Amino acid sequence: MNPFTAEETLKLPKHVAIIMDGNGRWAQARGKPRLFGHRNGVENVRSVVNTARELGIPYVTLYAFSQENQSRPVAEKSGLMKLLEEFLKLELKSMMKDGIRLRAIGDLDGLPPFAKKAVEETIEQTRGNKDWNLTLALNYGSRQEVISAVKSIIKSNDIKPEAFKWDDFSQHLQTKDLPDPDLIIRTSGEFRLSNFLLLQAAYAEIFVSPLHWPEFNRGAFIGSLKDYVHRERRFGKTHEQIASVT
Ligand code: FPP
Repeated sequence: MNPFTAEETLKLPKHVAIIMDGNGRWAQARGKPRLFGHRNGVENVRSVVNTARELGIPYVTLYAFSQENQSRPVAEKSGLMKLLEEFLKLELKSMMKDGIRLRAIGDLDGLPPFAKKAVEETIEQTRGNKDWNLTLALNYGSRQEVISAVKSIIKSNDIKPEAFKWDDFSQHLQTKDLPDPDLIIRTSGEFRLSNFLLLQAAYAEIFVSPLHWPEFNRGAFIGSLKDYVHRERRFGKTHEQIASVT
């Protein structure tokens, strides 16, 4: 059943980006190893992706591994990479059936070769899919993305400083084919962006849930969307200006 009224449906975000935090704490609170939390986190990825598709939210981006996560213990990192590979292999069939296109942002060269291969193959195989868009941030860092964009602009040798605008810059970001996120959700009660889509989030609404990622279920996701659709996004304008066009 669609939990949104027709009016609320019109206001649903086009792009939701999620910082999936708290897998480790969730597992440790149950006396389990951290990887148990990541495994349950993957199950939750499936649930949230299905809910977003069902509601007609066309873009979801998930912060699956940050550049800073590279400093985690080797066993945790390799466990996470194996979960990623397993997820991509298991989901390929349904991604093709449901028209889901996979993209990745981040420095894939910093992933173990087997994980990089699984990501690149899935990106290639789903390239023609047009119905829905899943982006994984893998070995991603927003500051590093900005540095790469600046290098790419310098190399392009096509800069007219007086006329240079945000759109000229954003074309060099890895997110160039994605709309800016409308809503950024972070689980586990932490109020920070942790080097995730810093520039793209300029006008994003932010929702922080106290739940750890494995327990951020369909109901909690819908709750965050309900909160979002009742916010007023003013993009620097006044309430009166916004009210006069809606
Ligand atoms: C944060 O929890 C989560 C991560 C660093 C990894 C997120 C990855 C997944 C959910 C699985 C892989 C994703 C896909 C798409 C297959 P944390 O470990 O930082 O938790 P803590 O803050 O409680 O320690």
